[in-house]
Amino acid sequence: MSGNRKIQILDTTLRDGEQAPGYSMNLKEKLEVARQLERLGVDVIEAGFPVSSEEDFHAVEEISKVVKRSVVAGFGRCVMEDVRRTWAAIQGAARPRLHIFIATSEIHMEYKLKMTRQEVLERIAETVAYAKSLCEDVEFSAEDATRSDRGFLLQALNTAIRAGATVVNVADTVGYITPPEMYSLVSWLKENLEAPVPISIHVHNDLGMGVANTLAAVEAGAEQVECTINGIGERAGNVALEEVAMALHTRRDHYHVETGINLRQIYRASKLLSTITGVGLPPNKPIVGANAFAHESGIHQHGMMASRQTYEILNPEEIGIYQSQMVLGKHSGRHAFAQRVEELGYLLPKEAMDKAFERFKLLAERRREITDRDIEAVLGSSAVLGVKETYSLKTFVINSGTIISATAVVCLIKDGTTEIENVARGEGPVDAAFKAIDGIVNMDTKLESWTIRTITEGGDALGEAVSKLSCNGHPITGRGLAPDAIEASIRSYVNAINKALAMGES
Ligand code: KIV
Ligand code: ZN
Repeated sequence: MSGNRKIQILDTTLRDGEQAPGYSMNLKEKLEVARQLERLGVDVIEAGFPVSSEEDFHAVEEISKVVKRSVVAGFGRCVMEDVRRTWAAIQGAARPRLHIFIATSEIHMEYKLKMTRQEVLERIAETVAYAKSLCEDVEFSAEDATRSDRGFLLQALNTAIRAGATVVNVADTVGYITPPEMYSLVSWLKENLEAPVPISIHVHNDLGMGVANTLAAVEAGAEQVECTINGIGERAGNVALEEVAMALHTRRDHYHVETGINLRQIYRASKLLSTITGVGLPPNKPIVGANAFAHESGIHQHGMMASRQTYEILNPEEIGIYQSQMVLGKHSGRHAFAQRVEELGYLLPKEAMDKAFERFKLLAERRREITDRDIEAVLGSSAVLGVKETYSLKTFVINSGTIISATAVVCLIKDGTTEIENVARGEGPVDAAFKAIDGIVNMDTKLESWTIRTITEGGDALGEAVSKLSCNGHPITGRGLAPDAIEASIRSYVNAINKALAMGES
């Protein structure tokens, strides 16, 4: 033991992160993320906002059943019905936490809540006490705390503490505060709170000060920090877990604190999330971006060759970026593949491993060497994550060019047995192929967006396509992987269709 103070990490990827546009996940995906968060060692997994929808309620309920070590928090407003429903969703958890919030700034109280200060205090007392009667662990959050009158914020937090709150959270809801102000606020609260209840901090990144504000709060004595993987969240996002964890670890000589984060699972968590949501990362994203460990300039490369310490303060292996000397290819067997998968930090059940190996073999037939990035892409494919493949691609032929409109002939296999073929014309090859598929599956879906990017280098680079559909108002993300851009696109579309069908069945 180092004797350093322990900081609790609350991850809100599945609540604050998931509610941001473009990041919605289905139940299976949320469970996959929750399992990874537990492997990552987060202390508290905020699983969702159960009153926001039946789907969210169900997801929180299911996450509560599978998570064993981490605390599972359900989030709701300081409203009696929210408390009741949220508790109903998390009561099956091994370690449940009720997390409820109300705004304490004048702007929010006057324009949004239309409540007086006195009414807000009464509501806090009433709902926190009710939450406490149901659940031992209760977190109270003051929304827009950083724009609240300090005296009133203190009153609100003390009211929650008197009613039984076990953690009080100071939210920088609109990303407004500066690091010195944050330091001063948390220090002052620590001195003035009626009881030594842990202070949590929750920041947004609107002015790009999220990490600095979180670290300032830690220096001032905050005991819990709230964050999301890859910093996803409303507007400019929440503070990124990997950035806070690595800053606290790398500069532990300065902060003298530690977290329970298993650093080697960071890269895997980041990858899993961007795979599932179909939202990539900017290459220069700290810690997990593709260029975070790339050294292009001659001066840097020269320094790195002499000693890594010249330009690298982080070790890629520390966050689980495994650098292997052994190249996999079409002659590699299941054992070598499984070993590499494990080295990359993935723990797959047998069925998923079989599926992944099958996909790896198909890919290896078409590429000379399979890199770790290829393997990660294979592992990230939704087939491996276990989406039932009602439709699979058998063949396609496209005819297109600058002087003719595109025509696609696509043949899908339904339920592993029935072949269905369709022909369609379109604005280009992808549009024609998607229209041919529409004619086969005959579903009420709308394509919202489609993107393609290469994820490896070279002429035979692997393409990863993401199709975002909406089906009965639900956003669905499909992914497809292939060395051919059109094939990757078709696979992503078919994958999204399969997900839409699976959603209808669940
Ligand atoms: O940003 C915010 O205010 C929140 C809650 C913790 C209230 O997400
Ligand atoms: Zn938030």
